[in-house]
This record gives sequence, structure tokens and C-alpha cells, in this order.
Amino acid sequence: MTVEIQNGASPLAPDWLQVPADLNELKEPMWAGSVDRNSAGALTVGGVSVQELKEQFGTPLFVMDEADFRARARAFKDSFDAAFADICGGVDVYYAGKSFLCTAVVKWVEEEGLRLDTASGGELAVAARAGIAGERVALHGNNKSDAEITRALDMGLGRIVVDSLDELVRVGDIARASGRQAKVMLRLTPGVHAHTHEFIATAHEDQKFGLSMAADTTEQAGLSAAEEAVAAASAHPGIELLGLHCHIGSQIFEPDGFALAAEKLLRFLAAMQEKYSITMPELDLGGGYGIAYTPVDTPRPAAEIAKAMAAVVRSTCAELGIDAPRISIEPGRAIVGSTTFTLYEVGTLKTVRVDAAASDNGDAGNNVTYPRRYVSVDGGMSDNARPVLYDADYSAVLASRTSTAAPQLSRVVGKHCESGDIVVRDVYLPGDVAAGDLLAVPGTGAYCWALSSNYNYLARPGVVAVRDGFARLIVRGETEEDLLNRDMGA
Ligand code: LLP
Repeated sequence: MTVEIQNGASPLAPDWLQVPADLNELKEPMWAGSVDRNSAGALTVGGVSVQELKEQFGTPLFVMDEADFRARARAFKDSFDAAFADICGGVDVYYAGKSFLCTAVVKWVEEEGLRLDTASGGELAVAARAGIAGERVALHGNNKSDAEITRALDMGLGRIVVDSLDELVRVGDIARASGRQAKVMLRLTPGVHAHTHEFIATAHEDQKFGLSMAADTTEQAGLSAAEEAVAAASAHPGIELLGLHCHIGSQIFEPDGFALAAEKLLRFLAAMQEKYSITMPELDLGGGYGIAYTPVDTPRPAAEIAKAMAAVVRSTCAELGIDAPRISIEPGRAIVGSTTFTLYEVGTLKTVRVDAAASDNGDAGNNVTYPRRYVSVDGGMSDNARPVLYDADYSAVLASRTSTAAPQLSRVVGKHCESGDIVVRDVYLPGDVAAGDLLAVPGTGAYCWALSSNYNYLARPGVVAVRDGFARLIVRGETEEDLLNRDMGA
């Protein structure tokens, strides 16, 4: 039996997905500040229309609003500075380059008064090319190579965040061998389990990152790995121990987890300072602040998170009777994520009829089938691996024009040879979407280009920054020549 759908609402849709009152609306807060529609109905960013962008740069394309990036970076810096002014004189904000990194972005970060968090030698190379002072750069990673450690020391990095006891000794020895001292922070796992996708929650015990704060986690009876690292770091002549670090996970909305982690680290910091007669002047509380990918996501403003964290740091330090350490944070996604949308061109379309019972989102079935429209675009899992990796939900709008056609439950899919190649699992799009239309998927600034691949020998898209009516490539897209360059021949 087949049933036609009234008012567009489909039983195949997940519970959270409502039929939008206006399919052409650009729902806050998913879009960058300057994204709008022009009088012809086309999406514009910084005053530049998607047709102009397609003509100049092709599709797929990452389109970034530069002013929006700068505004979000400033919002973190200003609101955390304000909230912590009386506690530790302000906050150092390290932009997490793993979310999206290129030299232009490093320059914006610097110009807005932020610092840079890197996680590999390659990311350090970008930092070096951008010319940022090493003092303003941090290096992370759970398995840094000797070459990466040496590079960090050569660049005079402000901090190397050490992840394990093994690495602590390695960093100290390498620094000492060249008569230097490495500025080190210790990454601890405070045991706070953030409410997020399992793969991106990183401060619980059973995972690869960080030094455990639980007792008896080392050979030395009674000592936690974290304490053993504090003792070893403060005794090693090649190490200047700056303080402690934690990162509890990513795409987190509620401030409670950050506050709890801050409290746990402060208690530990105070205990270690007293026991080993040392001072650890810095405390880094990581990144992980969530953004809106769909209309039901409700991220908190930076100022709200800052206030909640400051309240806990203030009261805990007062209770412990210690001077507050200088606080730093490492937001990535919350700065770059919503600055960018991916522009795709629609190719083929097909509609299938799905038994609601058999559908992943469906209500209890009674052999009734409903339509699901597959809208294929010219990119896919190679430019956005997040739906495949994390079951991440996204949203999309028809970007090249507006439409008054009835909403149709759609699934935006890529062009890869893989049935899981989904860009937007469930979205209502106008029923007249056709080949040649442009679609825009918001919220693709973080961990999309950064995680992109050449699967099926697709060329990675370029990244365009738009500002004041002018669009420029900040990373050019790959060409077929790029794709063949490393093939050494028979
Ligand atoms: N600091 C550290 C030590 C981190 O490991 C991360 C992210 C950040 C800061 C920045 O987190 P953010 O503010 O961007 O959430 N690929 C996953 C996310 C992996 C996060 C890795 N670490 C995703 O696409 O959701």
C-alpha cells in the first residue's frame, strides 16, 4: 500500500526533524553572520552570491565568512577575558588548528589576539609558514615523534602538552641534550565523561589520551600516573613544568562538564603544589564547545560558558586558598564550524518508497510505504566524513534560488561508491529541487576539510574566504594533476 503525504511531514523522518514553516529560511544559529538571500532568492555570503562563487571556483566548495570567523574568535577571547579578569587577569585562547588550519586562518587568529594549538609536525609547519611567534603556539599529540619534539623546541614553542610518562622523559631528554628546557603541560584525564558521541569523548579513563588521575595507575604503589608525571617533570632538568591540561570531549553544550573538570584539576594542582613544593602557574581546560548543525541544536554563547567556568575556578581557588593559575582554553569547532558552508551542485535524483517499519527512523510499520528522495551532489564523504564517522546530522537548503514547492523528505548523498556516503541523512527540501540546483550545507567549517580524503580519486575542494563583497581562495582545490602527482608510475 502506498500513502501520499499530506503537508510534507514524513513518518520516515526522525522525531527531532520538523517540517520548516519556510523552506527558504536560513535558521539561526546554523549560518555565518553575513549569509543571506539576495532579491533573486540566491544565497549570498559577504554580499557574494553562490552563482558567482560557483562560476569563479566551481563546486564542491567550502565557503567561509572571514568576518564571522574573526567575530567568533574575538567573542571567545573577549568573553573569557571578561569573566576571568579578576581571577587570573584574563584567559589565553588557543584556536585548535586541527578543526581547520591554513596560513590565512593563523593570521586571523593572531590578529584577533588568540594563540594556536597544533597537534602534529605538519600543523607546526603551517604555523611556521604563517609566521606566528613560537611562544604563542602549543603542541599536542599522544605519540609525538622525536622530530616533532625537536621542531617544537627549535620553534621556541610556548608549551608542549605531554600525554604520557614515556613522552615526558623523551621530551625532557631531547631538550636537555641540546641544553634547553621544554615548557611542558601535563594532559590529565579527570574522569569526566562528556555527553557526546563516544568516539569524541576524551577525558574518561578507557582511552588513549592523557595521564590518569586515578590512584594506582602506575608501578609505584598508591601513585596515579598524573602524580608520577608531576614528580618526574618537576625533577627533570630538561623540563619547565608550566601546569596541567585536560580536554573532556567535543561538541558539548552544557557547561557543567567543563566546570567539573576545572574543579578536579584545581584540587589536584593544589595538592601537588603543596606536596612537591612547586608552583604550576597555568591550567588549560581544553576545547569542546558545541555548535548548531541542525535546527534543534542549542549551543551556549561563549559568555555563558565563560561565566559558569569562572564561577567554579573562583570558588575552588578560594576554598583551596591558592592563587588561581592563568587559565587557557582551546576552542576549535566553536570558532570555525559555523563560519562555513559547503556548496554542492545537484546531479541525479531518485525517489524510493520505504516501509516505515524497515526504516531506521520509522514508526511501527503496517506495510505502508512512504517516499524518500535521494538527492545526489558532486562531493560526499571525501569532503565531509563526519556523518559516516560519527553519525553526525547536518542540514541543507536550496541555495541557488528560493522555492514554493511542497517540502519533501530528502537524503543528500555524495557520489562515492559506498552506500553509506551520506551528507545529510534527513532534511526537508523543496519538492522541485532538480539537477543543476545548488545546495548549501551549513556548519562545515570544522573537521570537514580537515578530515577530507581523495577516496575514489576525487579532488579535495578548495576553501574560499569571503569578506566585504570579495571572495578569495585561501586553500585552492586539488586538480587532477595533484591527484596523479605522487603516483610514481610503473
Ligand atoms: N584541545 C584538544 C586537546 C583536542 O583534542 C581538541 C579536539 C580540541 C582542543 C578542540 O576541540 P573542539 O573545540 O574543536 O571541539 N573529529 C571530531 C572531533 C575531534 C576532536 C579532537 N580534539 C569531530 O568531527 O567531531
